[in-house]
Amino acid sequence: MKGKHPKTALTPATDNLQKAINVKADMDITPLAFQKNSPAQSDESSHTPRQEKIIKLKEAVELTQEYTNEIISELDVTNEELTITRDYADAIIRTVRGPLLVLNKDLRIISANEAFYNAFKVAPNDTENRLLYDLGNRQWNIPKLRILLEEILPEKNTIEDFVVEHDFKDIGQKTMLLNARTLRQGPDKTSLILLAIEDITERQQLEQQKDEFVSIASHELKTPITSVKAYTQILGQRFRKAKDMKSVELIEKMDSQLDKLTDLIGDLLDVTKIEAGRIQFHESHFDFNDLVEETVEELQRTTEKHQIKQELQPSRMVYGDRDRLGQVLINFLTNAIKYSPHANKIIVSTLVDKDNVTLRVQDFGVGLSLEDQAKVFDRFYRVGGSDQATYPGLGLGLYIASDIIKRHKGRVWVESLKAKGSTFCFSLPMTK
Ligand SMILES: Nc1ncnc2c1ncn2[C@@H]1O[C@H](COP(=O)(O)OP(=O)(O)O)[C@@H](O)[C@H]1O
Ligand SMILES: [Mg+2]
Repeated sequence: MKGKHPKTALTPATDNLQKAINVKADMDITPLAFQKNSPAQSDESSHTPRQEKIIKLKEAVELTQEYTNEIISELDVTNEELTITRDYADAIIRTVRGPLLVLNKDLRIISANEAFYNAFKVAPNDTENRLLYDLGNRQWNIPKLRILLEEILPEKNTIEDFVVEHDFKDIGQKTMLLNARTLRQGPDKTSLILLAIEDITERQQLEQQKDEFVSIASHELKTPITSVKAYTQILGQRFRKAKDMKSVELIEKMDSQLDKLTDLIGDLLDVTKIEAGRIQFHESHFDFNDLVEETVEELQRTTEKHQIKQELQPSRMVYGDRDRLGQVLINFLTNAIKYSPHANKIIVSTLVDKDNVTLRVQDFGVGLSLEDQAKVFDRFYRVGGSDQATYPGLGLGLYIASDIIKRHKGRVWVESLKAKGSTFCFSLPMTK
């Protein structure tokens, strides 16, 4: 960059001009001096108009020379700054561990980093100045990528975490996570595109293996628990017959702990089903209030401290998977009980209009910050902090609940104030 500096072009030009004028001036002035036989020529009045012109020209050239030098030193500074900026950008691109491309607006590659060459097994010579789609026998001519770069990016200027799958000839099937950004450069605002490509193939495979493991493990755990539960029931009957009420009480406690274990395993199984898109719904028309009343009654039996109040509007028939929707309600209610240990009231209400039926479960417990409200429906999300650590759970219930509601084309949300309580809600569209 420094070598292309204009100094080399400007200085000789003015230098030469100066020399040429000096030569001319010597030729013009010297003979005159000899002619007049005078020792000095400093007296201006003795100059001919032609000589004066030359002297003025000389001065002008000297000034130009000075001016040029000034410009050159200024250019030097700008140039240095430019070099620093460029080095800085280059260093960033080279340091980034993931593959990174810099493209111009025609999607021609301006530069790529080592990680890109390594990951996609291409050489710098076959990459720089090539069109992205032409790389490696047009391996990058991926329809989804074209849409992304040609349609979405120009409109939005940034793209975040866009997943593209592609079978590359040399490196096989890859799943890539793309992040892109348009940068506007220079006075003419030509744009550059920064494209970061993360290969998430391996991570995705690991994730899949983990899901498979959880699925198999929960299936395997389910069978022995079912038989242990059967044995506790037989034992319970025996103790009851023998009027050993202390043992009956212990067996009942054991049974309810087994139910909790079954629920946890059920949640794990549901999550793996959701991930694999294998959750199945058995839909039918049913009376919504019936379901609410039934579920509240069931949950009321699990708590002595909380009174679950119902404020239901006239019932409607809804269409959906009754058991799964019941599961959502159970989850809202168990959470409401669990996360309001010092309250004694929970309110379950419904709102019905011509398009939707909405269900709300309000508690007066620990509540949720705005930040947590945005995340509680995420998989495995549990609120951190010392008070929350005392509540057991896997952080799956709300994730499953929101998936169930979304699959019913409904909406799920939470309204909450920290330390005041939360209201978890869902609404289902009314079927004609
Ligand atoms: N009614 C509620 N009040 C306050 N926090 C809640 C409530 N319901 C859920 N949460 C928060 O959301 C997180 C996720 O809930 P959930 O998916 O049911 O998992 P789990 O109950 O197993 O922790 C909980 O860990 C808790 O921090
Ligand atoms: Mg829960």
